[in-house]
Amino acid sequence: MLTGKHVVLGVTGGIAAYKACEVVSRLRKLHAGVDVIMTENATKLVAPLTFETLSCRPVCIDTFSRTESWDVKHISLAQKADVMVVAPATANLMAKLAHGIADDMLSTTLLATKAPILLAPAMNTGMWTAEVTQANLQTLLARGVKTVGPASGLLACGDNGAGRMSEPAEIVEAIVSILCPSKDMEGMNVLVTAGPTVERIDPVRYLTNDSSGKMGYALAQAAQQRGANVTLVTGPVHIPVPAGVHVINITSTMSLYETMMEQCGKQDIIVQAAAPADYRVEKTADQKIKKQAGEPLVLKLVENPDIAKAVGQCKKEGQILVGFAAETQNVLVNAQKKLTSKNLDLIVANDVTAEGAGFGVDTNIVTLITKEGADALPKLSKSEVAERIWDKALSLKK
Ligand code: PMT
Repeated sequence: MLTGKHVVLGVTGGIAAYKACEVVSRLRKLHAGVDVIMTENATKLVAPLTFETLSCRPVCIDTFSRTESWDVKHISLAQKADVMVVAPATANLMAKLAHGIADDMLSTTLLATKAPILLAPAMNTGMWTAEVTQANLQTLLARGVKTVGPASGLLACGDNGAGRMSEPAEIVEAIVSILCPSKDMEGMNVLVTAGPTVERIDPVRYLTNDSSGKMGYALAQAAQQRGANVTLVTGPVHIPVPAGVHVINITSTMSLYETMMEQCGKQDIIVQAAAPADYRVEKTADQKIKKQAGEPLVLKLVENPDIAKAVGQCKKEGQILVGFAAETQNVLVNAQKKLTSKNLDLIVANDVTAEGAGFGVDTNIVTLITKEGADALPKLSKSEVAERIWDKALSLKK
């Protein structure tokens, strides 16, 4: 299953290090290549020879050890990895990773890698629930680092609570899902709207908003990777289009409306992450409006169609409609009203005034609201938010 894939496994100094041996063994049985990096403390708990025997590769411990090959080890392993996994990940390792500290072989390799990172935290309950550990966790999640566990139960120190490292089978399952993303949207037609609209005032001026398109593009990319046929209807933005996605460019809210009326009947799932203008200038001037010194310029704005509502009115049997609510106050109440008034199955509420949420940034803090209830997510990368939205939309489709 993992032939041709390469896992770099970091092992830190927690008692759960012994379980990491089974992680290596399981990965080898799936034909993955595995390199193990141990911290000095980890070598006091498990002999490096155990990992060398299981992985059939020398274990890296010391950044400055002389090796037979001349490559710079922490860089070569960082580049070789298809995924970097740390199991067990101690509170210390998480703190270092969150703050960019690179003072040994494992932390330097983690800092240098561009591969996805998966942590299997393991520590005492008090350490896990400590405010600083949780803050570090939030920082890491917001950067796209993934985690598996920890589980709750009896810990080596005798305490009972959260902090047990997940079982090896579960860790390997998480690795497989990163390396071989599931194609659970194979054959589905999905449409995502993204970015702002532009409402022309005259040939040189317009009304718009701060949407960068990042949220919608992350949704389009995630669905494409999960096997869907994706149509991305986008306002003008400055980010690259995800590969393998069919793009329709729009500018004004009216052009978005026309496109959506044409496209919506063909889709299994529609997610509207765009930020269309609620109003447009009644009459766009043909020529540049001249300044009248001392006189105010009065623009008459007329209401644009509510596109999500119009799509909701022609909803097909079995179709799933997802909207966003960009709110600055009474977030959940306002989002709930939009869920009903636009005939949506799911609404993604974001408080666009919260730090790390909404327009322009790479993270978002959202609550997924359905008729059944609300699921508040922590601050996550927009890619991770996108995955959670698709997971929820698929669960509604079943
Ligand atoms: O693009 P980014 O920089 O990544 O920022 C992401 C985002 C903040 C734009 C995104 O997360 C978001 O919240 N998008 C919805 C913005 C918005 O228009 O929210 P709204 O609450 O005004 O509208 C509710 C829903 O109705 C939305 O799904 C919207 O697409 C839709 N709508 C709005 C107005 C309109 N005339 N027609 C619509 O269909």
